[in-house]
Amino acid sequence: MLELDNVSVRFGGLTAVDRVTLKVGSHDVIGLVGANGAGKTTLFNAISGLVRPTGGAIRFEGRDIMATPMYQRARLGLGRSFQIPQPMHELTVRENLIVAQRFGTGKVDMRKIDEILDFTSLANKAERDAASELALTELKALEVAKALATNPKLLLLDEVLAGLETNGKRRFMGMLKDLHAKFGVGIVMIEHDIETISNLCQRVAVLNFGQLIADGAPDTVFRDPAVIESYTGASHA
Ligand SMILES: Nc1ncnc2c1ncn2[C@@H]1O[C@H](COP(=O)(O)OP(=O)(O)OP(=O)(O)O)[C@@H](O)[C@H]1O
Ligand SMILES: [Mg+2]
Repeated sequence: MLELDNVSVRFGGLTAVDRVTLKVGSHDVIGLVGANGAGKTTLFNAISGLVRPTGGAIRFEGRDIMATPMYQRARLGLGRSFQIPQPMHELTVRENLIVAQRFGTGKVDMRKIDEILDFTSLANKAERDAASELALTELKALEVAKALATNPKLLLLDEVLAGLETNGKRRFMGMLKDLHAKFGVGIVMIEHDIETISNLCQRVAVLNFGQLIADGAPDTVFRDPAVIESYTGASHA
């Protein structure tokens, strides 16, 4: 469904993403890991259209999307969440989902929004102000809900579990498992926790200084000495 072919992103002298080649199938659940500053979020930004790659090619369902603007990528079925929750100010939870849905589909389907509110356990907060009245777990759930509201075929999740306590994390993991089954979406999730990845993903890809250094089954990849070294070596954040 998604094909990255030698994708690079340079910021001045810094190569944040370095010739990454990766294929994502329509039913894949893939973990994307790497040390702080390894280029994970920048790779998501390149896929979703927030930054323009300085080299390589990106195809989605066989179509070259390198020059496709962000909202059109959303309409093709590329959904994403943000590492730092970004609810829209002065809007309720429901209104945030309406805006996201309109962005991703061009129309509003309130039945679908109610379904997403239920699924993400936000139904009882639907009419609350999203920016000021939600706890961290709910803000994270809203990030996933907004991404779902765009009606994606492929969902890019940027550290949606980070910062949650054990119970919140467990509930969230259950939700992510169901999400794949219920909505039939492919998922690429950036996540630091090895156990979480091993639990949720059939495949894990590892970035190190912008380069893809491993791509395979979690139990194989997490035993790879180069991967362990990239994790325990000096952080370059
Ligand atoms: N807009 C930008 N302009 C300049 N440099 C940037 C920009 N965005 C990211 N970078 C740099 O690119 C590198 C990769 O950053 P990125 O945010 O993609 O890392 P990451 O793997 O998501 O890290 P983290 O785990 O901390 O979220 C870093 O060195 C970062 O400082
Ligand atoms: Mg990041």
